Amino acid sequence: MAWVLIVASLVVLWVASLCKILYTSSPPSRNSFLTTGGAFQKRNVLLVVAHPDDESMFFSPTISYITSRGHNLHILCLSIGDADGKGNIRKEELYQACAILKVPLQQVKTLDYPELQDGFGKVWNHTLLAKIIEGEINSHGIDLIITFDRYGVSGHCNHCDVHYGVRKLLQDTPQGNIEAWELMPCSTQVK
Ligand SMILES: *[C@@H]1O[C@H](CO)[C@@H](O)[C@H](O)[C@H]1NC(C)=O
Repeated sequence: MAWVLIVASLVVLWVASLCKILYTSSPPSRNSFLTTGGAFQKRNVLLVVAHPDDESMFFSPTISYITSRGHNLHILCLSIGDADGKGNIRKEELYQACAILKVPLQQVKTLDYPELQDGFGKVWNHTLLAKIIEGEINSHGIDLIITFDRYGVSGHCNHCDVHYGVRKLLQDTPQGNIEAWELMPCSTQVK
């Protein structure tokens, strides 16, 4: 059983090292890493990603951390990842991954806007992104957003645009109690 505890602690440490607070309108200490000194406070969390598989490649430890602590997680995937014409398959894979990651499927949303298509040359409009994400926040009472850092974790421009869309939303429409975390690659964290 000891190895289970060791693995669990490593996952928690890894998640802790990956996340940093991107923006918060309240003191970061208040709800640091979703734990409070006193009573359990359930958070409504929105994970914003660009393509199906981002959730598994970059955020699965974060997702497990959040759901295992009883918080309510929504995932917004801004495209079906159709760069190679496999968007419909990738979208299905996202739902399969979410079933394994224990995210209720009715809380997973995939969009397919003509302006937000998967691809290296594609520039995603930050104002449009901010508007879409704001809609999700309002319909689910979101109080914590998690997304990529400004480097997009892996450097993909669609990931970077998603970061700037979230940043724009937080800057243009100060959302009372919304906190945001950005995921950074370990190499950036060490600097
Ligand atoms: C970006 O999106 C906003 C909101 O949908 C729109 O008003 C604006 O014209 C768009 N900008 C460009 C350059 O397409």
